[in-house]
Amino acid sequence: MSATHPHNDHAWAIILAAGSGTRLAPALAGSYGPQRKQYLDLDGAPLFWRSACAFARIQQVQGLIFVFPAEDQERMTQVVADLYNRDPLGLPWRTCTGGVRRQDSVRLGLAALPEPVGSVLVHDAARPFASAALARRVLGALSDQQPAAIPGLAVTDTIKRVDGDDIIVETPMRADLRAVQTPQGFRLAPLLAAHARAEAEGWEATDDAALMERAGHKVVMVQGEEGNVKITNPADLELLRPNAIAAPRTGWGYDVHRYLAQGEGDPKVLAKARPMMLGGVSIAGAPQVLAHSDGDVLLHALTDALLGIACAGDIGQLFPDTDAAFENMPSAIFVTEALRRVRLAGFRPAHADLTVVAQTPKLAPHMARITAQVAQLLELPASAVNVKATTEEGLGFTGEKRGLKAVAVVTALPG
Ligand code: CTP
Ligand code: MG
Repeated sequence: MSATHPHNDHAWAIILAAGSGTRLAPALAGSYGPQRKQYLDLDGAPLFWRSACAFARIQQVQGLIFVFPAEDQERMTQVVADLYNRDPLGLPWRTCTGGVRRQDSVRLGLAALPEPVGSVLVHDAARPFASAALARRVLGALSDQQPAAIPGLAVTDTIKRVDGDDIIVETPMRADLRAVQTPQGFRLAPLLAAHARAEAEGWEATDDAALMERAGHKVVMVQGEEGNVKITNPADLELLRPNAIAAPRTGWGYDVHRYLAQGEGDPKVLAKARPMMLGGVSIAGAPQVLAHSDGDVLLHALTDALLGIACAGDIGQLFPDTDAAFENMPSAIFVTEALRRVRLAGFRPAHADLTVVAQTPKLAPHMARITAQVAQLLELPASAVNVKATTEEGLGFTGEKRGLKAVAVVTALPG
């Protein structure tokens, strides 16, 4: 490609998302099979999207290639199309299929370039935090005389070289060592040539710079970024937790149940009448409550408060009252499932304040047991749970003793 080529200033970015993530797989294995790390959620999009958004902010970058595993390509092409609809990045894109080794995926990504460009950025999707400034720095270091630039950082650990028996064979001077990152930037023509030689002559390398070095090119290092971590091991998952969880969350829940009316004769209604349960405690002598489950109005409000924290909808979505499986079900299982959702979302309850609104029965004698029971369900000390009861002064349906209601407020902290 000549220096006067009209597209010599143009660059495309290749985002490598075709790995299998074997080191992370054990931590991600779910009941529906393993999840690939490059698709993990980061603020509402798969993590490879973060790099796409960063590169799209660079004027010189004219397009994006996403490299996916063969079996995912069709599905992920649709995912990228949907993401583009949500976040129009304003530059063309393509997907292609990767290969067995990273270097195969790069070679295939290069082959998918739709137009001759001057330079490419090759980037690991597994490094979602690379900034646009870093990519600009890499591209800015490239010229016809300087065909390769890569970001790196001084290492803090002393690094040893070992043999197959883990015997140290060498300790290179730490000051000479750098830990290398992506995006790596290259002039396209020499990179294509280096990959062709690697293919023909059986070179293996874990980054493209190594192929360029071997092909005899000078590779320059620019300052990398501390935050540009490669999501590799289970401990790195912590870095993907949404920023929003730095703040506590408050969940609010509300529920109402009717009492069985005196003299009710309809067998369908009578079939739904349950002895009153509040907070998992049976309230002897109280009016019967009409419900599909056990009718524990307090635990239903509590479940909704927990689901609120997890942003997981409401109790009716999770446990439809049309589902026979939940008939006469102890409501503690709803709380337990909602609590599991809270934990999945990265939170733990710290405090609950609950109010029962009922004209009858008198609840004062039951409060200590209800509080203890709710605390146990939430795995909190009783000192972090407050249960109150009030009447509505004879007004409305609670005042008329036609039913009762409950309100729950739960505070949760990240962690
Ligand atoms: N990659 C790729 N094609 C491959 C291997 C890796 O596109 N055949 C990509 C990965 O998706 C990742 C990047 O190259 O974005 C860096 O690789 P690495 O962190 O090693 O990811 P994996 O190979 O997926 O993980 P592991 O080595 O733990 O299996
Ligand atoms: Mg790998």
